[in-house]
Amino acid sequence: MKIAVIGSNGQLGSDVCEAFRRNGDAVFGLTHSDLELTSPSSVEAALSACTPEFIINTAAMHHVEKCEADPAAAFAANAIGAKNVAEWAKRADATVAYIGTDYVFDGGKAAPYVETDVASPLNVYGITKLAGEHFTSACAGKCFVLRVSAIYGHQPCRAKGGLNFVELMLKLSRERDKVRVVDDEFVTPTPTVAIAAQLVALSRSCHYGLYHATAEGSCSWYEFAAEIFRATGSKIRLEKADPGEFPAKVARPKYSVLENRALKAIQMNVFTDWREGLQSYLDSRPGAPAADRQ
Ligand SMILES: NC(=O)c1ccc[n+]([C@@H]2O[C@H](COP(=O)([O-])OP(=O)(O)OC[C@H]3O[C@@H](n4cnc5c(N)ncnc54)[C@H](OP(=O)(O)O)[C@@H]3O)[C@@H](O)[C@H]2O)c1
Repeated sequence: MKIAVIGSNGQLGSDVCEAFRRNGDAVFGLTHSDLELTSPSSVEAALSACTPEFIINTAAMHHVEKCEADPAAAFAANAIGAKNVAEWAKRADATVAYIGTDYVFDGGKAAPYVETDVASPLNVYGITKLAGEHFTSACAGKCFVLRVSAIYGHQPCRAKGGLNFVELMLKLSRERDKVRVVDDEFVTPTPTVAIAAQLVALSRSCHYGLYHATAEGSCSWYEFAAEIFRATGSKIRLEKADPGEFPAKVARPKYSVLENRALKAIQMNVFTDWREGLQSYLDSRPGAPAADRQ
């Protein structure tokens, strides 16, 4: 298949390109300099130049504080950008996959969210990504929406800069003897390679629709850090942060665990337990283990 990946040099986009290439597909990676989501003419030019059958829109403005400070820019990229891509796809009879987020939920539910739960985002980022989901499903004839959570991959996240959570913990374990991490925010850490594998599988199907697409199980950030240190044999002292010790500038859900109910219903869920995903990530780190196994 001819595949276009928007945001191809991003954390998720780079693994998506790699997975489809390994699958034998012709992959056209589109970076921000190739395509500006907010401009219909830029989207039209970039997609018409490669005429993909399947488009994966991983690109977003997703730095939560920046979205809150500039809602118009966030809406333009996350919602209108999705509309521009979906409208091109509809004209070309192509399929779109839009990457959504767990931040469409408010965290008030005490059990994993399923696709039929009502979304109620707490911040501008979540609102604009929810609008992007709606534009994608309303404007594209054929589409998948995949909500992902707490993603990490070998390519750094461009929007947030710096290190992903795993790499940050490993760095701190080399530099400090103690680290404090919040224990009151629950997610499902999900490796980007697993999401890429899920996209490859779905691209061969006609099961269009909305999917939660995260690793199995859940943990607090404290529990995630504990597993990182356990798996790497780190001796760093890990402590639970006090409530309010790291105040968030923008409201975020305290609980955004997703259940992949719709993927399981069609027997296409490729995800394994989050600990297994973490171990695979650690095993495949370029140039890693010795330095981190103290
Ligand atoms: N990171 C998480 O934990 C998380 C959790 C849930 C959902 N998600 C979703 O997962 C997706 C992928 O995240 P990621 O971590 O891979 O992000 P990333 O590393 O920041 O990559 C995002 C890509 O989008 C491009 N981009 C941004 N604005 C654009 C625009 N207006 N037009 C065209 N391209 C644009 C960026 O290019 P430049 O950097 O050059 O601008 C970059 O290539 C996003 O849709 C995000 O909302 C992420």
